[in-house]
Order: sequence, then structure tokens, then C-alpha cells
Amino acid sequence: MNKDAILEQLRSSKAEHVSGTELARRLGVSRTAIWKHIRALEADGYGIEAVPSRGYRITSEPDLIRPAELTRLTGKPVRYLQETASTNTAAMELAAQGAEEGTVVVAETQTGGKGRLGRNWLSPRGNLHASVILRPAVPPHHAPLVTLVGAVAVATALRRTPGIPAGIKWPNDILINGKKISGLLTEMSAEADRIRHVVLGIGINCNANLDVLPGDVRGRATSLAVETKGSVDRTAILGVVLAELAAWYRLFLQDRQRVLATWKDLNVTIGSVVAVSGAGETLSGTASGIDDSGRLLLQLPDGSVRTVAAGDVTILNVP
Ligand code: BTN
Repeated sequence: MNKDAILEQLRSSKAEHVSGTELARRLGVSRTAIWKHIRALEADGYGIEAVPSRGYRITSEPDLIRPAELTRLTGKPVRYLQETASTNTAAMELAAQGAEEGTVVVAETQTGGKGRLGRNWLSPRGNLHASVILRPAVPPHHAPLVTLVGAVAVATALRRTPGIPAGIKWPNDILINGKKISGLLTEMSAEADRIRHVVLGIGINCNANLDVLPGDVRGRATSLAVETKGSVDRTAILGVVLAELAAWYRLFLQDRQRVLATWKDLNVTIGSVVAVSGAGETLSGTASGIDDSGRLLLQLPDGSVRTVAAGDVTILNVP
């Protein structure tokens, strides 16, 4: 028996108190053991009211991920860490050791969170940092499409929350009213003609204060707490993201055109005049579409079309 078993009992009795004797009977342990676990839960940040002759009741829960619930929701192994350098790095290691497809690594905070194009991803407690191991049977040059699958899954999941009109900025930033709320980073291990595994890393700004972000990023960022004007249940959100990911990934393996079509429906880039920086140059033009590998098609002022595989897009003018 551990403290999670007591938590489950207290949660299921909601507003009702449960006596120490009753908890001890249900869980087959002594009242002293129950008391020790209650103290441990309080130390974890749970508010627990103890009323003599009635028992215990939960009054508040800390903002922590509930890994057991995620395992139940996804049916996949969940590796839950309080702190790690990067969930992507941890997931790449697990994948190399043969972890099952769909395994999720989630951490309350990252000390070396990785962003696209070699940037850092600041990862304070209160936000979501998760990585999923995938083993798609597609050629390595289709791996970038997995990131688009992730973007479709995250945008679709966030759009299920009222007042969150999430859109996708190429290739995989999730925006709300022009401000970034989530980013995705895919890493891959492959042979010449075969993907060994792909790790899809997802960062979502949830409850952490945006003030912790560096000044230049802060003005262009938002969070679910800001958008919903309250704190959000990160476990529930990650559960919906992972369910959407499972569904879109299955579809991607059968018919990637459907995923590309949905990516296009959700995107806020195509049709806009944009500046794309990357590989030492900045190009301006009209984002005219994406190709079958997920690369951006950029129509330059002279009418020619450039295909861009990686870069940063700034939207200059929405049609
Ligand atoms: C970006 O927009 O630059 C991509 C950010 C990706 C951040 C996530 S957080 C979970 C996972 N672990 C990492 O180190 N990075 C990704």
C-alpha cells in the first residue's frame, strides 16, 4: 500500500470525510500507517482536512501531473520524472533500449529543455513537458511529417477547450491569436532506409507565469492559464493530447494526405506574407503551401518558388 491508494480513496469519496479506521480497513493496514501517509500527502502539497470523529477529506490538490491516470488513459507506459535535463533525451535513451511504441516521458521541469534550431526551451514547473516514442514504418525522409502529425494533435486537443482557437504556424508552432502556446521538437534515430525510432517532444505553456520567460519571447508567448483566465488541469490536457496523437498517428500510417489536409486547415501561415530565416539567410515572400514532405513552399517576389525544409517564420501580413 502506498499514499496513492489513500489518495484514490479520498478522491472517490469527494466531499465526504473518511475515517482513519475505515481507510485502514479498506486498505488492510494500521491506522498509524494511514496517518503517516496522510502526513506524506500533506508534504506533497495536498490540502487535507482532518475532523475528529469524522475523518479525512481532500480540500486542495497540488499542481502535479498524475502519472497513474495518464497510464490508465493511454494504456501505455508512462515514465514520470520530477526533473530531467530533457524529456526528449530521456525518451531517446529509453527508445534505444527497446521501449514500447507510445511510451511517454513526462517531467515537471527540465533543466536543459531543447527547442528547435538548437535553442533552449525554458521549462518551469506548471507547464507541460512530454515526449512520446514512435516507431513509424515510413522512410526516414518522411520523419518531418511526424512533427506535423504532432502539431495537428496538439492544435486539435487545445481547440477542445472553449476559447482556445489554436492554429499552427509552419512547421509546428501552436499559436493562439498570434501568440505561441506550444512547440514541438522531433528527434530521430535511423538507418539509411529505415527509422529506428522517432521521439516527438511537446512543450505546452500551461500554468507557469509568463514572466519567467526572457523578455524577447514573453511578448510573443501565451499560456493556457492566460487564455482561460484560470489554472488548468495538466493531466487532463496531456491525456487529450495523447489521445489525439494516437488517433492522428494511426491515420498518418494509413493515409498521410488526410493529415496534411488537416494540417492545412489548421495552419495560419499559408496565404500570408512571411519572412523565413534559417541557414544564414532571410527570405520574404508569400507562403503558398507545403509539399508532401511537409516543407514550406515560399513564393518569392519574382514569382519563383523556393522549398524550405527548416527555418523560423514571421508572419508579416495576414491575407
Ligand atoms: C520549439 O518550439 O522550439 C520546440 C520546443 C519543444 C519543447 C519540448 S518540451 C518537451 C520536449 N523536451 C525537450 O527538451 N524539448 C521538447
